[in-house]
Parts: sequence; C-alpha cells; structure tokens
Amino acid sequence: MTARRGSALSGPARAPGDKSMSHRALILGAMATGITEIDGLLEGDDVLATARAALAFGAGVERLGEGRWRVTGHGGFKQPSGVIDCGNAGTGVRLLMGAAAGYPVTAAFDGDASLRKRPMKRVADPLAGMGARFEWRGEADRLPLTLTGGGLSAIDHVQTVASAQIKSAILLAGLNAAGVTSVTEPVPSRDHTERMLRAFGAEVGVLPHGEGWRVTLRGGQALTGTPVSVPGDPSSAAFPLAAALVVPGSQVTVEGVMLNPLRTGLFETWREMGADLTVSNRRMAGGEEVGDLTARHSKLTGVVVPPGRAASMIDEYPVLAATAAFAGGATVMRGIGEMRVKESDRIALMAAGLQACGVAVEEEAEGFTVTGGPGNGSVRGGATVVTHGDHRIAMSHLILGLAAAEPVTVDEPGMIATSFPGFVELMRGLGADIASA
Ligand code: S3P
Repeated sequence: MTARRGSALSGPARAPGDKSMSHRALILGAMATGITEIDGLLEGDDVLATARAALAFGAGVERLGEGRWRVTGHGGFKQPSGVIDCGNAGTGVRLLMGAAAGYPVTAAFDGDASLRKRPMKRVADPLAGMGARFEWRGEADRLPLTLTGGGLSAIDHVQTVASAQIKSAILLAGLNAAGVTSVTEPVPSRDHTERMLRAFGAEVGVLPHGEGWRVTLRGGQALTGTPVSVPGDPSSAAFPLAAALVVPGSQVTVEGVMLNPLRTGLFETWREMGADLTVSNRRMAGGEEVGDLTARHSKLTGVVVPPGRAASMIDEYPVLAATAAFAGGATVMRGIGEMRVKESDRIALMAAGLQACGVAVEEEAEGFTVTGGPGNGSVRGGATVVTHGDHRIAMSHLILGLAAAEPVTVDEPGMIATSFPGFVELMRGLGADIASA
C-alpha cells in the first residue's frame, strides 16, 4: 500500500470505537450476570478475537448491527473447549487471562506470530502469586500457555512500570479472589477497567500514592450486565488528525473522540509543538468525556516530551514521530522502553522506517530523537517500510507519505484492520492519495 503527496485534506470523520474499552466491555459482559448491550464497539480483528473468547468462555455473544453487540453473561467463565486464540491482541490475551484466573477452568491461550513474541510473565507472575497455575507450552514467558484458575487469594502488587494491561488483569482476577487486591502504579495508567467495573456495580477504591495511585478491589463482588456506549478511539483519531497537521491547507474534524485525560498525552504534546488542534462539543458518553477534534495544517517545532507523560500516549509515539519528521528541530522521546515490547519493537521500526525515508533519527535503549525539517516535502520518502505486521507502524508511515516528496509504501497493510478497519477508506474520503498497490 502506497501513500503519495496530494491535495489538502478536509472534512469530518468518525474514529472507530475505542479498542481498550471494546475489549473490556466484552470481557466484563461475559463475567457479569445478565445482558450487556454495547454500541460503538470496535469491529477490528483484535476485538473480534475477544468476542470469540467471550463466547468460548460460555457467554452469549450476538452482533445486533454495526458496532451493536449483546453479551449475555452467566455470572462467570465456563470451561472452554479448544484454544483461546487472541490473534494480535496483547490487551485481549492479558485481560482474558486475568478474568479466567478467577474461575475453576483450564484454558489454553495462543496468538499470532507477533503476540507469541510478547512477554506474558508480567501478567502470569502476579496471577500465579494469587494462586493461578501456568504451563508454558513453548518458551517460558511466551504464548502458547495453559492457565488453570480458581481458589485465588488477593495480592498487593506494586508495578515498576505503569501498565493498564497488568493492572487490569490483576483487578479482574481480584474480583474472584479472597480478600482485598491492590495495584500500585508509579504514574496512573488508563483507568477504563476501574470505570467500567463501577458501571457494572463493583466498588473500586483509588488512593493517591506518590506520583501515581493505589487501586483497591474487594473480592467476591458480583457484576451485573449494563449498557456500554464506546466512544471514538483517540489512538485511531490521531492518524487523520496527524495527516491534517502535516499536509498543507488541510482541516479535518474527527467527531466523538474519547478525551480521558489518561489517553490524551499526544494532543498535549502536539499543542506544545505548535499544532492548531481544537476541541468542540465536549460532552459525556459511556462514562467518559468526549469531544470533536479539529486539526489544521500547522508549522510544528520539535519538543522534549516529558517521560512522565509516556503512559498517557504510549501507543501514540509512532504517529508523533511521523509528525515530528515535519517539525523544525529535534523531538526527544525518552522513558519509553515499553515501546519495544508492543506489537513490534516500535522504537527500532520507527527509527528504521523514518531513516529509510531520509529523516534523521537517533535511537537509544529507551527512546529516540527525530530531527525534522519544517515544510511540505522536507521529508524525502521514497521507501518501502517494513512493519513486522504492526498496524500503527503501517499507519504512521502512510501519514508520512502524504506529505513526503516521494511516495511511501508499507508492507502488510492488512494488519491495519486489527485496530482501524476502514482506515484507508476514511483517509481517501478526506482526500488522501493512498493506493492499494
Ligand atoms: C492497553 C494498555 C497499553 C497499550 C495497549 C492497550 C489497555 O498497554 O499499549 O495498546 O487497553 O489496557 P500496557 O498496559 O502494557 O502499557
């Protein structure tokens, strides 16, 4: 798939449903008793894998219409038959393992080649500390694995890195553990699990702890099905907004974007870089603040991104790096070692892809610096970028191609559907020149 420099982008767009909330709505719906009707569910491959897992664990799962799903929970997970294949989804597999650990089931988990490379002990160790048993079917710390749950006791877990996936897995297991489970984070990570647990009727405590917080949950609380409205994903909205910032003459509005402050670090960073990015129509939807975001082509300047902001934009550094390539001066991104264990080693792949397109990048163990040249066409482009099947690496380089002097091609564009089905159609609707070949 190839992106070329063309005319200005304009128009309204709607981002697909938030991926984090979509996984959680399905999983909590399957753990609860009663009906959970979801609207705005992301119908990307990652979330569809979680929907199949919810079905395998005994919940009723029906698609009622576009983004409208009904989950009928029977108050817990049942013994599944067959392997729970989570595809490409780290969030799906880690949260499902946490949920399954609380029930007397034995479940085999697996995923695609990328997910099989990602660390699982970060979740398996605390869950084992609560009493779950793990058998590594291949290499230790990696999928495939078999989990046997049930009979858990609460733990107090202190995280060194803020990770919503680890926190959520422990809290979901803690729902069915004896005692009060707590997770302490050095800085707050996204709190969708806490918010959604409350919407399903559970009490969740939050106490300040240094720069971060301590989240507590009493075991034995029952969940009751509830309607969930999933707003637009800020991590996906970032791509059309980024395109508007770097393609001259553009103005794009993405409607209905979730603005949870633990997810909006990129927007803050772009504003510091001089981006003309405004929010209108702020409102509440699905227990989250939502707004319409408008980005206009802007003269950007490099900044030093505070490492403490990493948790609120960890998935957005690839697209930030793409826009930084068009900013005058250096954009310094540090304290982001976690990027190396996402769907791919995102620091290495962004550095390689940008360098192949003629951008100056300095890679470090836990970060990278992109030095841009301001103005349209200041980036050479003219490369085929290796994405290792990582959706965000692919989309970030396609955005780069929309303002680079020469076209940019990405391999494996099919993987974009894991988080953003309809990305290419949406971008073309705004006027982007993205061709399949
Ligand atoms: C997610 C948490 C983040 C993020 C991922 C989604 C979640 O991972 O990168 O895409 O929904 O909880 P970590 O918790 O491992 O940082």
